[in-house]
Amino acid sequence: MILKDIELENFTNYEKEKCFFSENVNIFIGDNAQGKSNLLDSIYYLANINSSRGNKEKDLIKWGRDSFSISAHFLNRIGFNKVEVNFINKKKEVHINSYKIEKKREYIGYLITVMFSPEDLNIIKGDPSLRRKYLDEELIATDIEYFLSILKYRKILEQRNKLLKEAYRRKINDHVMEAWEEQLVKYGTIILQKRINMVNKIKIIANKIHYLISDNKDNLNIEYSTKLDLKFLNKNDIDIFKKKYFKKLVESRNKDIERGYTSIGPHRDDLEIEINNISGKKFASQGQQRTVALCLKMAEIEFIKEIIGEYPLLLLDDVLSELDKKRKNKLLEAIGENIQTFITTTDLNDINDDLLKKGKIINIVEGRII
Ligand SMILES: Nc1ncnc2c1ncn2[C@@H]1O[C@H](COP(=O)(O)OP(=O)(O)OP(=O)(O)O)[C@@H](O)[C@H]1O
Ligand SMILES: [Mg+2]
Repeated sequence: MILKDIELENFTNYEKEKCFFSENVNIFIGDNAQGKSNLLDSIYYLANINSSRGNKEKDLIKWGRDSFSISAHFLNRIGFNKVEVNFINKKKEVHINSYKIEKKREYIGYLITVMFSPEDLNIIKGDPSLRRKYLDEELIATDIEYFLSILKYRKILEQRNKLLKEAYRRKINDHVMEAWEEQLVKYGTIILQKRINMVNKIKIIANKIHYLISDNKDNLNIEYSTKLDLKFLNKNDIDIFKKKYFKKLVESRNKDIERGYTSIGPHRDDLEIEINNISGKKFASQGQQRTVALCLKMAEIEFIKEIIGEYPLLLLDDVLSELDKKRKNKLLEAIGENIQTFITTTDLNDINDDLLKKGKIINIVEGRII
């Protein structure tokens, strides 16, 4: 995918700016608080229709204004496209090639980003939700069935959790509970199948990259971790898997009523990350965590290429200063000619000469592109 240009109006600290991009590397340079991450976030927003930093739309409007818009031209496997997002009167409107998008699913897969920011360094030791987010983000961006299944799953989970709390106070009919549990099994199984397929692919790619970066010393292993028995999670035995999943939910019901939440299912799962057979979560050093985080991101890019046949846009927010020289160079080497990349930095010293020659330098001062 190639993002040709972007135009912002009243988006964060930008008033009205247009920027043209290089097909290779684009380096956003400027002092702190000038708008580098905001510009990166506008690209992320166009791809994902939400902010990378979890900001609500109203907070993305330039202070003192009442609407924002972002538009861009990009090239993908489908052709040349124009995407426009307008947030007016507390409502967002998305147009792709002048066609109004009613549901997000109509837009899935058009523009895909992989973002790497300093928070991603917590992926190894941080909360399991970060590792689930890692899996979910790219599956949502590339797989409509996954996106719809996870929306359904979250709604049903909310319903079951509500009932669990009610059941603490009064008896709930078993059939009512079972109806929700059957639905959880239905969508939970789709989510599990797709996550495990992704993990199986990612772990091979990530291990290869890790082996190279660590000078052929360290072995990285990634496994999907769940309370469910995955033995039967293949096409032939899927009915057995579902029966066992359902049974486990029913069996855990009383305990779940005491806890007030559903304790089994993909919303509680995790990734086990091991370096040379030792738990990364418990024992990885800072440097090892950075290396693994980097490998996971690079593997994600290759995974997307495999699924949709083209590379996503790579967004690197402030990560170069976090990496030592060797890893920085490995990362920059891995960004081949084929991956359009957007990097923010306060200092060009972080970036090697080859990349500077290939790249376009975009200076940002107080919300102006100069
Ligand atoms: N809705 C908004 N309206 C106006 N200004 C905003 C809005 N949201 C954020 N800003 C401001 O935009 C400025 C630039 O933020 P940004 O995160 O892009 O900086 P940056 O260039 O990435 O800096 P750093 O190098 O520190 O990461 C900040 O000072 C922030 O307060
Ligand atoms: Mg920033």
